[in-house]
Amino acid sequence: MSVAKKEYKRITVKTLVDMKANGEKISMLTAYDYTMAKIVDGAGIDVILVGDSASNVMAGHETTLPITLDQMIYHASSVIRAIDRCLVVVDLPFGSYQSDPKEALRSAIRIMKESGAHSVKMEGGREIKESIKRILNAGIPVMGHLGLTPQSIYKFGTYTVRAKEEKEAADLIEDAKMLERIGCFGIVLEKIPAKLAKQVAESVSIPIIGIGAGPDVDGQVLVLHDMLGMTHEFNPRFLRRYMNLYEEMTTAISQYVEDVKSVDFPNESEKY
Ligand code: KIV
Repeated sequence: MSVAKKEYKRITVKTLVDMKANGEKISMLTAYDYTMAKIVDGAGIDVILVGDSASNVMAGHETTLPITLDQMIYHASSVIRAIDRCLVVVDLPFGSYQSDPKEALRSAIRIMKESGAHSVKMEGGREIKESIKRILNAGIPVMGHLGLTPQSIYKFGTYTVRAKEEKEAADLIEDAKMLERIGCFGIVLEKIPAKLAKQVAESVSIPIIGIGAGPDVDGQVLVLHDMLGMTHEFNPRFLRRYMNLYEEMTTAISQYVEDVKSVDFPNESEKY
């Protein structure tokens, strides 16, 4: 299927809202380091999310809870040094915004000042409304995150689909409308029924970016290492793998080991 794709020199939060209004889908991927971000930006992605999934993907933790604000700033500043065109959104990590609005603003300011990022993302709805407002009032663009919110994994108990029940679905729609009303520039909807995601996307004018939320939203986000097939133990239905880098890298590294052991590497032309 051919797609509408306008050329943008630089993506801003305003560009994303315009894209939704024009019916152009938004592409978003995670990245956590300079080299990967350079490739992702160069390939034409609209948004890079420096996700707190770095806690899993980069650091090997079981959940996103352990990653710190300092570590997020380190990842974000590496990404910022790499990009020319895309918008960079950085997750406020668990514990950096839940206690009170002043603490939330201090954390967001540190991310913006110390990494050079363009915006922040926060998980939650009404319960963090005052913190979001405080950050927005300081001129920092905020993206919301509803549905499955991994920072609350110990409250949910599982990573299964959220908002299947009527009450949770109604609350989610209310939260999305509230996030739009107070000035968020977009919302990530994670792992909810496609029908509900469509309803949310139709109820607000800010972009809805889905992950496991079906096709009828304004854009899609995936974790880079998952879509490249570098991880292989995580197999949710929503994940499309575009490569099998786990296998390709394993083959290449095994070959290198063999070449070193057999003194095939380095050869005549590879020495000085
Ligand atoms: O941290 C992350 O990678 C995310 C995406 C799953 C949306 O929040």
